[in-house]
Amino acid sequence: MRKLLLLVWMILMSLGAVAQKMSEKSLKNGYISNLIKRMTLEEKAGQLWQVAGSFATGPDGNNLGSLKAIAEGKVGSVLNVSGVKNIRKYQEAAMQSRLKIPLIFGMDVIHGFRTGFPIPLAEASSFDQQEIQKGARWTGTEAAASGLNWTFAPMVDVGWDARWGRVMEGAGEDPFYGSQVAVARVKGLQGDDLASTNTIMACVKHFAGYGAPIAGKDYNSVDMSMGHFANFYMPPYKAAAEAGAATFMSAFNDFNNIPSTANNFLLRSLLKEKWNFNGFIVSDWGSVGELINHRVAGNKKEAANIAIMAGLDMEMVSNCYIENLVDLVKEKKVSINVVDDAVRRILNKKYELGLFEDPFRYCDENREKEFVESAKSREVARSLSERSIVLLKKQENILPFSKNLKSVALIGPLAKSKKDMCGAWSTANVNNVITLYDAMKNRGVQVNYAQGYDLESNQIVNYDSTLLAIEKSDVVVVAIGERASESGEMRSKTDISIALQQQELVSKLVKTGKPVVVLLMCGRPVIFNEVRDKASNILLTWWLGSEAGPAICNVLWGDYNPSGKLPMTFPRNMGQIPINYQYKSTGRPYPGDWSAKYIDSPVEPAYPFGYGLSYTTFKYSNLKVISDNLNKGTHAKISVDVTNTGQYDGEEVVQLYIRDEVASVTRPIKELKGFQKINLKKGNTQTVVFDITDNQLGFYDNNINYIVEKGDFTVMVGGDSENLSMKKFNLK
Ligand code: BGC
Repeated sequence: MRKLLLLVWMILMSLGAVAQKMSEKSLKNGYISNLIKRMTLEEKAGQLWQVAGSFATGPDGNNLGSLKAIAEGKVGSVLNVSGVKNIRKYQEAAMQSRLKIPLIFGMDVIHGFRTGFPIPLAEASSFDQQEIQKGARWTGTEAAASGLNWTFAPMVDVGWDARWGRVMEGAGEDPFYGSQVAVARVKGLQGDDLASTNTIMACVKHFAGYGAPIAGKDYNSVDMSMGHFANFYMPPYKAAAEAGAATFMSAFNDFNNIPSTANNFLLRSLLKEKWNFNGFIVSDWGSVGELINHRVAGNKKEAANIAIMAGLDMEMVSNCYIENLVDLVKEKKVSINVVDDAVRRILNKKYELGLFEDPFRYCDENREKEFVESAKSREVARSLSERSIVLLKKQENILPFSKNLKSVALIGPLAKSKKDMCGAWSTANVNNVITLYDAMKNRGVQVNYAQGYDLESNQIVNYDSTLLAIEKSDVVVVAIGERASESGEMRSKTDISIALQQQELVSKLVKTGKPVVVLLMCGRPVIFNEVRDKASNILLTWWLGSEAGPAICNVLWGDYNPSGKLPMTFPRNMGQIPINYQYKSTGRPYPGDWSAKYIDSPVEPAYPFGYGLSYTTFKYSNLKVISDNLNKGTHAKISVDVTNTGQYDGEEVVQLYIRDEVASVTRPIKELKGFQKINLKKGNTQTVVFDITDNQLGFYDNNINYIVEKGDFTVMVGGDSENLSMKKFNLK
């Protein structure tokens, strides 16, 4: 009886919750409909325009982003203004407009706000969604406390080409893993409630295919078949939309011969109709105006016409909408319903952010002081930084350092550079970055620093003083890599090798006979064959942000045992690019004489996707397909025993790959379909179990329908995408 009562109570409660949600929704709809009715056509066009606040003029010389335009109701959103004081000023101008519609404030808060977090590609190396979500949570908290409502993140573009500098901003090459990271970031930024003063709207970008520019050149054309797009590039966008992302950004590139910004198939048919996306879509910077450069529009009016018809709701910075929408509607080239739909989508988000209730909701100086660069943010950044580090090579018993280590020769200007540790797309407070040099000193160890090489010219400098520092020290730590200005937007390269003189310096240091640890600080996969060959200990530390120094020290001294894995394949030479682990079998599979390979280079990369060592070692055994058709929807349970066989406790990312043995279309030789990060004490064994469901076994056809075909599948489990144990099972 008590159980029955409880059940009835629970049903009533959940009905109550549903009813409350519905009434909230109808309240919102009523409020927005009423507002739209009162708006002039000019005011509607204004809501669809985003201006850049911190720039006096936009790229095409307009300065309509002034407070005057805002007070006239001609602007819906402002980007690149931050800080409660500044934002208040802009919002006050909006409150002078006839209908007092509040502005939304957006900014590229990409990896931490004033507290710098690891670059997104580094964070992705953690293979730890909870930590990534927590990082995004604190990024959102800081940004919201500074008055912001919206970030242009996450970038979920899949990338197989490290020439493209923006790989630093994504989660790497894999659509399945990229989807998990996309969801973690969206949830972290948005929390459960957009109206909370510690959450901000996410913006999923760049829709679509921006990660595959031809020849790795940023902004270049993209060309891919629909099947290729659907299976390899689309999943993270879809996952992020399903996770409730509030906004999307269209990409600069064309897709199937139509620029994304005016691509009806992408924006309307796929995103808004097929995926039921109810947020709004913003263009990329100036990309409505750039439709003229793409040569699909003869002038700004045509650009506005094709973009709005395709479903692009808000125009960032260029001024095609504001100058032409009113006429386009009057001339009946654009229906008012199309404009109203875009306006409604934007106003809905303003409502959900709580801005109609209180336009100054996010403008609280005390909250700003409390949360921006708080101790808690730094703690989260440090933890994520430790987990982002990947141990690439470990020979000899140098790492982790003994707690009794007295002195270190620290070589290389990157070890002292605050700016470069912030990486590209950074909003961090550079002054508060703790460099490796500072962190080592704080540890109480004697640090004998020498510059080693010059960051501008990349030449070896003052080698005598480098030798002197080495003579005085027990071990050598040398930091090599890229400057922050070398990866990121507009930073494509034809050669991603670490500068040869930096590599030569490492060889010289190794020759001295002192134990050498190489730290690779960079924003993309790099090529460093000489170092790979000569150095016995290599840690990839990427660009880690404000807590770079302490995190690296914690790993060097073994306070944190490295657990990162590569989210992107590291090629051994430029000719291998684009490269990924998910290639297809082909009619002439490698290896073999007449097979898909090179005659002047191995096919194998320098380091495969999913690769990363630990101070301890792990053994995989006993891979089993436990059962077929266990539960409804579960087709197999796979189990494997993982044993910590080394000297330290440690974490391992157990990876599950699947191959569809025979299908109606060509399929990759393996695809990541699951992973679990486990923590194992030395000597212990854990049985790791994966459930395999339809979701892991299907693929998209060329019409973007998801299909699951019966037949044989091979499961592969291991610690990276190359070293795997295999078992077959059959889907009946
Ligand atoms: C980038 C976007 C960014 C926007 C606003 C563009 O150049 O491609 O990712 O959000 O600028 O800063």
